[in-house]
Amino acid sequence: MEFKILQKPAGNNHLYIIDNEKALTQIPALSAEEKKYAATAIAAEQTQITINQYGKLIFLQLVKNKKTEYQTLETCRKAGADWAAVCNKQKLQDIVIHNLSALHAAAYTIAEGMALANYQFLKYRSDARKITNSLKSIAFEKQAITLKELNQLSITAEAIYHARTLVNEPLNYLTATQLAKEITNLGKAAGFKVTVLNKAQIEKEKMGGILAVNRGSILPPTFTVMEYKPKKIINKKPIVLVGKGIVYDTGGLSLKPTPASMDRMKSDMSGAALVSSAMYAIAKMQLPLHVIALVPATENRPGENAYTPGDVITMYSGTTVEVLNTDAEGRLVLADALHWAKRYKPELVVDFATLTGAAAAAIGEYGIVCMGTAEDAAKQQFRDSGNRQYERLAEFPLWDEYGDLLKTDIADLKNIGGPIGGAITAGKFLEHFTDYPWMHFDIAGVSFATAKRGYNTVGGTGYGLRMLLDFLAHYGKA
Ligand code: BES
Ligand code: MN
Ligand code: ZN
Repeated sequence: MEFKILQKPAGNNHLYIIDNEKALTQIPALSAEEKKYAATAIAAEQTQITINQYGKLIFLQLVKNKKTEYQTLETCRKAGADWAAVCNKQKLQDIVIHNLSALHAAAYTIAEGMALANYQFLKYRSDARKITNSLKSIAFEKQAITLKELNQLSITAEAIYHARTLVNEPLNYLTATQLAKEITNLGKAAGFKVTVLNKAQIEKEKMGGILAVNRGSILPPTFTVMEYKPKKIINKKPIVLVGKGIVYDTGGLSLKPTPASMDRMKSDMSGAALVSSAMYAIAKMQLPLHVIALVPATENRPGENAYTPGDVITMYSGTTVEVLNTDAEGRLVLADALHWAKRYKPELVVDFATLTGAAAAAIGEYGIVCMGTAEDAAKQQFRDSGNRQYERLAEFPLWDEYGDLLKTDIADLKNIGGPIGGAITAGKFLEHFTDYPWMHFDIAGVSFATAKRGYNTVGGTGYGLRMLLDFLAHYGKA
């Protein structure tokens, strides 16, 4: 999607954002009769009105205040998704947004909803040309948005497109090696450093969690390290992002039942897609932050050499783990990355992972389950960012008693907790490998849509990325 600011009036298709009927008088493009028609529609509680001037289309979006501003802005994003559908149905290539409402952010969020809803993944479709969306460009009348906002909007949309595409790519393209290559390309495009550890290097480091999960696969694992360090930096010590990079999760020998639970398991690298796309945006926006991101990647498969329930493995940290379920693999690869993160003496570590069905079962597709040891102030900032972006957070407790559920006689820890608190025991497992302020985001419920959800298209959603970018953009500011 192309975004631009118009210096003088142009374009055939216009979307006017209004917050009351009186604003209609400020739209010279409408005749007296059309204004009357629109006023009647508004009186009848319509919020989206189309006026066809034959060759010229005028769209009206009435924004109504909800209880909170962030709820109002989410209705704007959803409205944007509706307008994208209208534009594509009418085969429009461009649209100009005018904001006559009192809510400045309405123009940004409506455009954001349009851009995100306009995403398509057509790489494997022979009829791609026929079904490609017509909408290519969103322009703003110059009062509607600042240059800084335009830049942020454009980079955010691009980053989300990248994240979604990585999730949508199936395993027969996106192996662990290919994922590392894609991340290397993102680094080249945006200007951050990428180092990829291959299998021999992962073995040399003795990253026992990653290697155990990888044993069933004939393809090698990768461990990707990204770093963005601009000249002007406001954080004293680095912020580290960690993303689960299971490029496919069969469950391993503790095989998942097919079909329902395996259908979407190419999306088990959504955390990796999220953090690498976040790095892309951070570098493109030139945020004044020193940020490192880590992606441990492999498939989880039942091969003839696969790790086996009952195995005791030695993790990168030296901790021994009894593997009682090979489907609890995400925490094993993440634990090695979290241990690696200690070398940076980080200010904050955040991980994103499609970690547990329990998180999805608890709150569904309506938000992210989070937990962690970060300070309350940081947690509050995350909550605020989650609300602003409508990628809301539900914090679960990391009480000691949940940690007791990971005790076993034969090793330091076991990799599953039992029937209760599945999202939390997974979090407790990860906590064991941290010695710094840390937050864990379980995105199992939100990262993949089986049906269109407003501006989240079918497949990878990139959900959580806007929340993280909002948090980083406000980082260090009160
Ligand atoms: N990748 C799955 C979690 C998942 C489930 C993501 C559904 C998206 C949708 C993870 O590796 C897993 O299998 N977790 C197990 C853990 C259990 C064996 C303790 C789960 O949640 O069932
Ligand atoms: Mn699993
Ligand atoms: Zn998994």
